[in-house]
Amino acid sequence: MKIGILGMGTVGAGVYKIIQENKKEINKYLDNDIEIQRILVRAINKDRAIFIPSELLTDNYDDILNDESIKIVVELMGGIHPAFDYIKQAIMKGKHIVTANKALMATHGKELEDLAKQKGVFIKYEASVGGGIPIINTLMDSLAANKIEEIIGIINGTTNYILTQMTNYNMSFDEALKLAQDNGYAEADPTSDIEGEDAAFKISILTSIAYGISVQPNIIEREGITKIDKNDIKYASKLGYKIKLLAATKRFNDSVGIYVYPSLVPNEHPLAAINNEFNALFVRGNAVGEVLLYGKGAGSLPTGSAVLSDIMSVTKSINNNIRNSKKSDRLDNNMEVRGIG
Ligand code: NDP
Ligand code: HSE
Repeated sequence: MKIGILGMGTVGAGVYKIIQENKKEINKYLDNDIEIQRILVRAINKDRAIFIPSELLTDNYDDILNDESIKIVVELMGGIHPAFDYIKQAIMKGKHIVTANKALMATHGKELEDLAKQKGVFIKYEASVGGGIPIINTLMDSLAANKIEEIIGIINGTTNYILTQMTNYNMSFDEALKLAQDNGYAEADPTSDIEGEDAAFKISILTSIAYGISVQPNIIEREGITKIDKNDIKYASKLGYKIKLLAATKRFNDSVGIYVYPSLVPNEHPLAAINNEFNALFVRGNAVGEVLLYGKGAGSLPTGSAVLSDIMSVTKSINNNIRNSKKSDRLDNNMEVRGIG
């Protein structure tokens, strides 16, 4: 299976490494190898964290778009433009899409899913929420028979890392942010992480899957962690709480309540024990009850693992000659969106 990758930064490097090092595991699931045909980057001559043969690199998207041997385009560039146009063009050419881009899937997911369905190709985005945690496949497959009542959790690794360093090591906000950036958890511009926008993208995606509605992330009530200082952490600790950036989406009768807020979590609650770049999500379904998913929510290999699971699942569908005829996850259900209060 030949793939073209758009972007070879933190996540791209994780995907590259897993394909090279876990061939045996991949071949337990697939009859064929995953072969990287071409990689689009901005700067071909840049020093990279891992060695990439120069003949794979290109700065011209046409080399991927017009290569008919490439069946799957894996978008790991981030941002809305040009990722949105590149993905649309690839779908129009009948290529399948795997993306980790939460900003794009939160804002243009419905349009892309509808277009993909029209063309009979797959668009998959497991890595866009929760890094290595299989939350999207869990909602779409394992819990598909449930009416989802609520999802609540920690879904931004950068802010959880910062809050953990401030709480456990008395570190300043700026020192902790720098460490999160050095570890590859933060977005290229960390504003999106620390202002709660990244978590809003993710909870918008989960809401669309859980409740079948498209929620533009800019209408979600949110606050980030930039106003949290050492005193807040100290007093919370004295009262028996940890401060965590929580995101939640909850079904009411004719409405859905969504928020992203720094919250006081009692020390004895499981979410209080989620540290560093780890994420955790409670999902409550009307049949299954409560399910807790926990794992690394950011970083090169954990996110690469989620991207590979999508590439492998699409490859399997192609091998079995299955076309995408699934309904869009965003069904235009008529539900009011509000804060939870
Ligand atoms: P990076 O900034 O580390 O890498 C981005 C890559 O895309 C770089 O290789 C860059 O090229 C390339 N690129 C960017 N813009 C263009 C363009 N216009 N044309 C060609 N190439 C371009 O990002 P990440 O790997 O951290 O993130 C990638 C995606 O994954 C984002 O959508 C992010 O939100 C998502 N994500 C990230 C996670 C993480 O832990 N980092 C976790 C989950 C999702 P060059 O190298 O030449 O500069
Ligand atoms: N910047 C994101 C985070 C990456 O810190 O959670 C994972 O989506």
